[in-house]
Amino acid sequence: MDGQLLPREEAKVSVFDSSVQGGDAVWEGIRVYQGRIFCLEKHLERMQNSAHALLFKDIPSSASIKEAIFKTLEANQMRDGVHIRLTLTRGEKITSGMDPRLNQKGCTLIVLAEWKPPVYPPSITLITSSVRRNAPQFLDSKIHHNNLLNNILAKIEANHAGADAAIMLDKDGYVSETNDVNLFLVSKGQVFTPHADSCLPGITRGLVLEICQKQGIPIQEKRLSLTEFYTADEVFTTGTMGELTQVHAIDGRMIQNKSGELMLKKIAAHFKELTATTGEPLPF
Ligand SMILES: Cc1ncc(COP(=O)(O)O)c(C=O)c1O
Repeated sequence: MDGQLLPREEAKVSVFDSSVQGGDAVWEGIRVYQGRIFCLEKHLERMQNSAHALLFKDIPSSASIKEAIFKTLEANQMRDGVHIRLTLTRGEKITSGMDPRLNQKGCTLIVLAEWKPPVYPPSITLITSSVRRNAPQFLDSKIHHNNLLNNILAKIEANHAGADAAIMLDKDGYVSETNDVNLFLVSKGQVFTPHADSCLPGITRGLVLEICQKQGIPIQEKRLSLTEFYTADEVFTTGTMGELTQVHAIDGRMIQNKSGELMLKKIAAHFKELTATTGEPLPF
C-alpha cells in the first residue's frame, strides 16, 4: 500500500479514505500466468483513463504502479496462479465529505495480490436482474470505478435465484453484460456481443474480438435482446476473474446447440495460447 509492503491482516485504508467515504476509487483485476503479467499495459492504461475521467489529482505514473506490482509479487514469490486486485482511490480526505477538494494528500494505491484460480466453474447459469447497467447519461461504464452497488444488487438477485451471476440489461432493455463479466453468444456460426455502450469494454472481451478477427470467425458487436441469448447455439462470458466460461442456462432456458459446432472451445484454445505466451515478464 502506497509503497509499503504489509502482511494481509495489517493492510488497511484510513477511515478518511475516499473509497470508504464514497466508493471514490478505480480498480483493475489482473492475472499472472507462468511468470508474466497478462495484458499489464492495457490494464494500466484503463486505470489511468478511469482516474483521469474522475479528475483524480497526483495520479501515480504507470511506471511507478508497475514497480509496486513487481515489488509485491517478488516479496511473495508469486509467479503463477495469481490474481491482483489493483485499486487506486482518490486518497485520504482531511475530513469526511464527498468534495474532492477535501483530498489534499494524493491518491492511495493498493496492490492486493492473492493466489487465486479462475473463479467460475466450467459452466454457469444466469438469471436476468431487475437492476439496469449504467448508461453514459447516468454513470459511464467506461470508467472502471468502485461504485459497485448496482452490480452487487444484481449479484444478490442471482444468489437468491441460485444462479451463478445476473444479466444486466441496458436502459432500453437490451443485454449489456452480467454483474461482473462480459457476454457473448454464438448463432449459426457467427459470434455476437453487445456494443460497449453500457457494459465495461473488458480487456478479455477485446481479446476475443481480436481472436475472432484473426481466425476469420465472423464477429459482430450488436444490440442483442434476451431472446437472442435464450435461442443461441452457445453463450459464454469473458473476464479476467473467470476467463472464458460457458453459460448453459439463462432464466431457466437451456442453451441448446443446434449447430454441431463448438465455437467457444475453439476461441478458448486461442485465448489459452495467449495467456501461455504473452504478457509482461516478471523481473525476478
Ligand atoms: C462489470 C464488469 N464487466 C466485465 C469485466 C471483465 O473485464 P476484463 O476482461 O477487463 O477483466 C469486469 C472486470 O472487472 C467487470 O467488473
